[in-house]
Amino acid sequence: MNEKYSTWAKNELEKVKEKIEWVSENNKYKLPYTTDENGIFDNRADSKKEFRIDDGPNWWTNGFWAGILWLIYQDTKASKYCDYARIQEKMLMPVFDMYYGLHHDVGFMFVPSAVADYRLTGNEESRKTALHAASLLAGRFNAKGNYIRAWNDFDDSDTRGWAIIDCMFNISLLFWAGKETNDPRFTHIAKAHATTVMNAFIRENGSVCHIVEFDPETGKRIKSYGGQGYAHGSSWTRGQGWGLYGFVNAYMNSYDGAYLKTAEKIADFCVSKIDDSGIIPIDFDQPKEPAYEDSCGACIMAGGLIELSWQTEDANKKAVYLETAYKIIKAIAENRADYSRNCEAIVQNCSASYYNKIHHETMVYADYFYIEALYKLAGSEFKMW
Ligand code: GLY
Repeated sequence: MNEKYSTWAKNELEKVKEKIEWVSENNKYKLPYTTDENGIFDNRADSKKEFRIDDGPNWWTNGFWAGILWLIYQDTKASKYCDYARIQEKMLMPVFDMYYGLHHDVGFMFVPSAVADYRLTGNEESRKTALHAASLLAGRFNAKGNYIRAWNDFDDSDTRGWAIIDCMFNISLLFWAGKETNDPRFTHIAKAHATTVMNAFIRENGSVCHIVEFDPETGKRIKSYGGQGYAHGSSWTRGQGWGLYGFVNAYMNSYDGAYLKTAEKIADFCVSKIDDSGIIPIDFDQPKEPAYEDSCGACIMAGGLIELSWQTEDANKKAVYLETAYKIIKAIAENRADYSRNCEAIVQNCSASYYNKIHHETMVYADYFYIEALYKLAGSEFKMW
């Protein structure tokens, strides 16, 4: 890694480690997602609270606090991070019995928790947990449409034919399981889904659809939906990040050159939209005002650009992707990172969705992707996905 980036990132990581040191003590027995007005993390495992079936312990981001702990562990080797991450893994175990609340996001839940544990420590229990999750994910595959169904129905909606761009990350669980068991079933499903997404989600200009609906009986593409972005046909930036980074991961897991080209196409579109500030809006097509941001999408996009800069053959693109990623992460570090004791989360100004009432909140996975991007810039060779 270029020294300019690594020296800067290592310095930033010192501040991160200082913060995670005390935040991890406060959150040993919580599944945190966002912080309240006092800067304290909530707890998705709070048994006194009532959650929707896919929320609470089933909430899709519940693997990311463990992921942060494993990122710090792979660097420091401090045993407390391993111990605390394993508490998180245990807290996720009841979801297998709940079953109905689980959907395609088992990849987000179990890659940064169980797979990370197994990769870093060889823990056999974690391997079993992760294979269990991978089998559930594989079971969501629609063989006619070659897509993984995203969500379940909790009311009278019908999402049997829905696939979403975010799932490009979840299929890393399948690629891992395929390699781990030497059973190509998992890999076939991951590749079939990625190829469908490549053909049905990615627009000519490199922007991506968030949700695409297929006919679950015939597999035919029916239509797309705007999802969490500004409008139908617009480019939700976190979705751009899921697609960009997801296709780099699919390439690194399969060496299928079409996935690398797709990642470059999405990346080139993103690079053309990012201004000098490095601050990322919720949607590249949103109006100038209100100036809603999504620091979380920013960190995901940056992580994808760094990985892509290492994979692409094109020397010019390599430099552009890396410099753009640096600009994004530096903008977060200088303007949106809170290293104080006023808030347990680091990354500020995250937005779940353009039309949510709340914007500019904290999200545990923004911290995860921020820290992960810093480790990449610092030259760490650990790969989560
Ligand atoms: N995976 C859902 C989101 O990015 O908000």
